[in-house]
Amino acid sequence: MRLFAKWSVFVIFILSAIVAAIYIYSTEVSNKTFPLDIMSLRRISSSKKQLTNRGANTSSNRTYILFWDHPWSVPTEGFSEGNMGGCTGTYDRSKLPDAGAVVFHYSNLDGESMPWKHYRDPEQIFVFSSHESPSYVIHGEHRHAMNKFDDHFINWTMTYRTDSDVFAPYEQSKVMNKIIDEGGKWIDNKLAKKKKVAVANLNLSFPISFVSLQLWVVSNCALLRGSKMRMKYTDALVKAGLPVDRFGGCFNNKDEFKELSADDVEAYKFYLAFENAQYCKDYMTEKFWYNAIAHGRVPVVWGPSKEDVEKLAPTGSFIHTDDFKTPADLAKYLLYLDTNDTAYREYFKWVENPDEKTLELAKTYVLTGPHRLCKMMLSNRGRKSHPSASEFFYNETTNCISSQENVIK
Ligand SMILES: *[C@@H]1O[C@H](CO)[C@@H](O)[C@H](O)[C@H]1NC(C)=O
Ligand SMILES: *[C@@H]1O[C@H](CO)[C@@H](O)[C@H](O)[C@H]1NC(C)=O
Ligand SMILES: *[C@@H]1O[C@H](CO)[C@@H](O)[C@H](O)[C@H]1NC(C)=O
Ligand SMILES: *[C@@H]1O[C@H](CO)[C@@H](O)[C@H](O)[C@H]1NC(C)=O
Ligand SMILES: *[C@@H]1O[C@H](CO)[C@@H](O)[C@H](O)[C@H]1NC(C)=O
Ligand SMILES: *[C@@H]1O[C@H](CO)[C@@H](O)[C@H](O)[C@H]1NC(C)=O
Repeated sequence: MRLFAKWSVFVIFILSAIVAAIYIYSTEVSNKTFPLDIMSLRRISSSKKQLTNRGANTSSNRTYILFWDHPWSVPTEGFSEGNMGGCTGTYDRSKLPDAGAVVFHYSNLDGESMPWKHYRDPEQIFVFSSHESPSYVIHGEHRHAMNKFDDHFINWTMTYRTDSDVFAPYEQSKVMNKIIDEGGKWIDNKLAKKKKVAVANLNLSFPISFVSLQLWVVSNCALLRGSKMRMKYTDALVKAGLPVDRFGGCFNNKDEFKELSADDVEAYKFYLAFENAQYCKDYMTEKFWYNAIAHGRVPVVWGPSKEDVEKLAPTGSFIHTDDFKTPADLAKYLLYLDTNDTAYREYFKWVENPDEKTLELAKTYVLTGPHRLCKMMLSNRGRKSHPSASEFFYNETTNCISSQENVIK
């Protein structure tokens, strides 16, 4: 009896060991780190299958920022390589051992195994990055890959949101600081190009109004709740008598837009900076900064809350749709501004007379996301990891991420 008990304990022990070994082997193989990682701990290869950051440079001066891949693997997308502050940005994965931080765009880990789960260098900072709205990501093609950023995989978040660990705004020093430096001269120069509705008479193959411009180069007309809503809102503006020149994929006239000269484009007084999502935290894109502000067109904003825009934009620089009860009221106001140059010019006050907040913002925007990341990385902050990057990213109102349509009357 005693002998039998001894044997059964032994057999159970052996069986458990075999089961454990099979389990570890199969998970490691599926992670593609075994047996290579065990056999050649220091070998670094740029092949995805063999990648491991075991053997990372233990010197504390790892100044590379490795961008794991371009967003959606499209080479023209994403952060640029090269010097940034004291760091070097690169897409070269062989630099992994010398990377202080590795940046993963939300699309990067889709379909990819995770080689570092068990052999990860705790000194290396893994960064989650997105420039798209949660609304887009949650309904988009890589929606199923977001959970790869959970389970404490990510140390820092880097997005356009001010509550990210690394603030990576759409605006960079190129726009605001340059404009403030030029001051009144910049305003005069821009305003001299403006035209009134009635004056529009160019030799173009299509009619044009010059009151406002809606340029949608993406074919995102109906994909998201937000894209449908902005379309409806614009239709309502037009119905209320506001001449809106609409270009882009959604209107089958991308090529016509190319007929406009640089001066023609700056003749517009307003730009409808309508995002593809409503009330997503801080989601204010290049539509605001480049399409509107940089061209001297007053942004008419739909999407981010007025509070968020006030936080992120120069004081008094924009018109928010939420301030108007109906699209018709807004149309009326824009038509009025078209007739009153003094009132219109007030939207450029921040250029000549920037207030404290505006100057503070301009300073913030001097650093790009990767520059800020570099600074933070080199200053050796304490340890941190996010239990779930998707929980951080999707922590939004249903307005932002819901796919249900909300009809504008
Ligand atoms: C480790 O980093 C230091 C400082 O950046 C560099 O000089 C050295 O060549 C690196 N060592 C290896 C093995 O890559
Ligand atoms: C690392 O950087 C610090 C400060 O930048 C410097 O003093 C130190 O010599 C560097 N160490 C190595 C190994 O390069
Ligand atoms: C208008 O454009 C057409 C075709 O591009 C050209 O032949 C014509 O001379 C232009 N007229 C004026 C007034 O510029
Ligand atoms: C034009 O705008 C200015 C500044 O807002 C205002 O004082 C003035 O009364 C307006 N003029 C007309 C004719 O509405
Ligand atoms: C980064 O996250 C990993 C995994 O959660 C953790 O082990 C490591 O200590 C973190 N490193 C830093 C520098 O925060
Ligand atoms: C979600 O957002 C709220 C308010 O914006 C914040 O207080 C809370 O800490 C956030 N939760 C997570 C998990 O980020």
